[in-house]
Amino acid sequence: MINVKNLAFSYTKAPFMEDINFNVPKGEIFGFLGPSGAGKSTLQKILTGLILGYRGNAIVNGIEVKNRDNSFYENIGVDFEFPSLYEKLTARQNLKFFGSLYSKQLSDIDSLLNAVGLDRDADKKISEYSKGMKSRLNFIKALLHNPDILFLDEPTSGLDPANARTMKDMILTEKTKGKTIILTTHNMQDATELCDRVAFIVDGKIKVMDSPHSLIMLKGANKIEYSYIENGIKKKSNCLIAETVKDKTLNLLIASGNLRSIHSCEPTLNDIFIEVTGRKLE
Ligand SMILES: Nc1ncnc2c1ncn2[C@@H]1O[C@H](COP(=O)(O)OP(=O)(O)O)[C@@H](O)[C@H]1O
Ligand SMILES: [Mg+2]
Repeated sequence: MINVKNLAFSYTKAPFMEDINFNVPKGEIFGFLGPSGAGKSTLQKILTGLILGYRGNAIVNGIEVKNRDNSFYENIGVDFEFPSLYEKLTARQNLKFFGSLYSKQLSDIDSLLNAVGLDRDADKKISEYSKGMKSRLNFIKALLHNPDILFLDEPTSGLDPANARTMKDMILTEKTKGKTIILTTHNMQDATELCDRVAFIVDGKIKVMDSPHSLIMLKGANKIEYSYIENGIKKKSNCLIAETVKDKTLNLLIASGNLRSIHSCEPTLNDIFIEVTGRKLE
């Protein structure tokens, strides 16, 4: 659904975004993961036709983005980093207005409002909305015309855990419908949970691209840690997964039923990001 080849772009004369290459097949959630200023939103703007002065290829849904016409937008849904809503209109009026720009059959507005808990505030003006309410409305605005490809720029940022959970479940539901999703985030938990693959982006370049699981397995997850009580004192030890059979203490503890806890020491995606890029995510 998305083919990016030798993509390059800069806002200035100095090089910034260089040598970006990736493909996203139908039904995948692909994450852009990187610190603030890395170029994630810029990349999303290129893929959605807001920045046209790029070099290389950015092909979305079979269309070179540079050559897009209005029909391009019938099949993509965009949740911008900063909500783009009319402050003087109500939530329902905003959805009706933005919906009227599409020729496709729209999703049911009330169901969408209900899904993100905005049904009771549907007829309030956006000027009375909190930041989190605007984020939720902006998100369903992207789903309104039931597009095949979704571009979500930091959709859960600024949401409380319950609303973030709802939104993540909705993103996963869209995936089960076969939608292709680009998810921009600097939240590694969201990326680990939602993304089939992630690209680590730093200073306008992709440093690594793989599934969160492979990255975690590749970079660690080879040790276990266990705890037990000896002479009334809590103790901890560890050994390589491959050597659990040889670890005498561990085997004695298992045989005597005195093992208190055992867990594998997987690095988080955040640890791996720091290791690979030398930079912190947040
Ligand atoms: N419209 C713009 N004009 C000039 N520079 C910009 C513009 N938008 C973003 N930038 C710069 O480009 C870099 C990448 O920004 P952005 O893509 O927003 O990063 P991210 O989304 O990863 O935080 C930053 O250094 C930012 O200051
Ligand atoms: Mg951004």
